[in-house]
Amino acid sequence: MSYNTWPLMDGKLVPGDLLLLEPAWRNFFENPKTVQFIHRVGAYTIFAVALWHMIATRRRLPGTTHARRATLLFLIVVVQASIGIGTLLMHVPLHMALTHQAFALFLLGFAAAHWRGTKGAYPLPHEIALRG
Ligand code: HEM
Repeated sequence: MSYNTWPLMDGKLVPGDLLLLEPAWRNFFENPKTVQFIHRVGAYTIFAVALWHMIATRRRLPGTTHARRATLLFLIVVVQASIGIGTLLMHVPLHMALTHQAFALFLLGFAAAHWRGTKGAYPLPHEIALRG
């Protein structure tokens, strides 16, 4: 419900007073400005990693299912970040907040399935015990 601006926060890319509370570790749990800033930085990191992963996979495995899924994963991250920015700018209306949280679960599920898909098929038992 605070700092409802983007990309700046409190007029800056990196706002001040992020470690206002003493002891400093409390800011990561009790200072709304620090908590929101960490959420933004976390989102930008996910965005950068998903972008890098898409480019690397499309270069290394062009035309494969992995490359298509890596591209879809990046697009899901873009949608999730856009919903998040909209949620913030609209002062967190419930429908946007719930959509943002639901989409986070979808993103997590897709990322897990994509990661599992890169591990290949489960090894099938090659010896079948014959019942005597
Ligand atoms: C890949 C990127 C992102 C993911 C995975 C993500 C995930 C989440 C999750 C799981 C929550 C719920 C947290 C909780 O209830 O404690 C949340 C809340 C929120 N996020 Fe994000 N987020 C992302 C990007 C962003 C961005 C870029 C912004 C804005 C700059 C943003 C703004 C918000 C806001 C305002 C809330 C609070 C909504 C509420 O009260 O439920 N998010 N986000």
